[in-house]
Amino acid sequence: MKAVVFKAPFELAIEEVADPRIEGPLDAVIGITTANICGSDLHPYEGRAELDAGMVLGHENMGIVEEVGSAVNRIKVGDRVSVPFNLACGTCRNCNNGYTSACLRANPSGQPGAGYGYPKMGPYWGGQAELLRVPWADFNLLELPQGTEHENDFTMLSDILPTGYHGAEMALVTPGKSVAVFGAGPVGLMAAHSAFLKGAAQVFVVDKEPDRLALATEIGATAINFADTDPTEAILEGTDGFGADCGIEAVGYQAHDHTGQEHPEMVLDNLVKVVRATGHIGVVGVYVPEDPGAANDLAKEGRVAFNYGEAFTKGISIAGGQCPVKKYNRELRDLIIRGKSAPSWIVSHQVGLDEAVEAYDKFDKRIDGYTKVLLKP
Ligand SMILES: NC(=O)c1ccc[n+]([C@@H]2O[C@H](COP(=O)([O-])OP(=O)(O)OC[C@H]3O[C@@H](n4cnc5c(N)ncnc54)[C@H](O)[C@@H]3O)[C@@H](O)[C@H]2O)c1
Ligand SMILES: [Zn+2]
Ligand SMILES: [Zn+2]
Repeated sequence: MKAVVFKAPFELAIEEVADPRIEGPLDAVIGITTANICGSDLHPYEGRAELDAGMVLGHENMGIVEEVGSAVNRIKVGDRVSVPFNLACGTCRNCNNGYTSACLRANPSGQPGAGYGYPKMGPYWGGQAELLRVPWADFNLLELPQGTEHENDFTMLSDILPTGYHGAEMALVTPGKSVAVFGAGPVGLMAAHSAFLKGAAQVFVVDKEPDRLALATEIGATAINFADTDPTEAILEGTDGFGADCGIEAVGYQAHDHTGQEHPEMVLDNLVKVVRATGHIGVVGVYVPEDPGAANDLAKEGRVAFNYGEAFTKGISIAGGQCPVKKYNRELRDLIIRGKSAPSWIVSHQVGLDEAVEAYDKFDKRIDGYTKVLLKP
């Protein structure tokens, strides 16, 4: 099959590789109809998370089941399915508690949590390819209505829609709350959308990319461009000096100022400033335990020196981590089916696999309005 293969930082190739096949009785092989490029893919792409050469990229996958193992009995050949980015066994302690993001069995390294085509998440090839092998298929796959309707909405169910929702969930967004979202990338935009789904009265979205901020405005959020406005002042002013009830971090460890200089603690500091005393922060932007390319020595060891003292004094709760996609994807699917959610509003480009190398380059440089790129193998 044809696949997007990681070679080295900033070097991908579209290559013929061996077709994935059923390796165990609980496996399925799906034919990919849509696979997205994610901000998380840029971490290995930029060499800021080490990945072995030869890995097929892609953890945001959906498609049609082509083959199932002998013990798969819920999922059938021909089913249209969404594949959560967390790859989980379904029977370990963490899976049983709903934390498929920390499955204790799926990652052979012993680290909790596994995924497709991603550093330290196990040997599993990703789905930026024609075919994908899905272990524990009955547990992992989410059925979708047959046909092709809502394809570009359903494709957000594998990662960014549940992840944005998880940010809103951890920030304890409930009806009437004010919410400050940092980052207007796909995840931040999904977090803003999720905050509205949960009934937020007011949502601020902070970034410096005008095209991304315009997408936030389209759903009724207040866009703040940190290149020309101090976002903390703007949010405090917008909440009559009180601060936002909830804050969502959707940027991660490569947070930077308007000149591009990285400050890993910058967004956490800003959130601690703008969230009111006894408010809540949900962190879905990724922070890593080691980052040799980091801006300072502390961050190289995963230590991010943000203002925890102020956060504690204000009694702010902070939660974070990978999204356990299965906790939310069924209900979010039904919101799409019933017309209450249409996350495809952020799709900027759809290209074939042959154009993936160029699409990565442009998405990485955030040029030409490259917000969310869908690959159609
Ligand atoms: N927790 C999870 O399960 C999960 C899942 C998917 C993605 N992620 C992570 O979420 C983060 C966002 O993903 P994405 O796909 O939207 O990435 P992205 O890189 O496309 O978007 C990040 C945005 O943050 C903006 N930004 C940078 N510095 C900023 C600052 N100081 N203030 C405000 N905005 C700033 C950038 O301009 C960019 O638009 C990444 O760290 C990604 O790895 C986490
Ligand atoms: Zn992703
Ligand atoms: Zn498990």
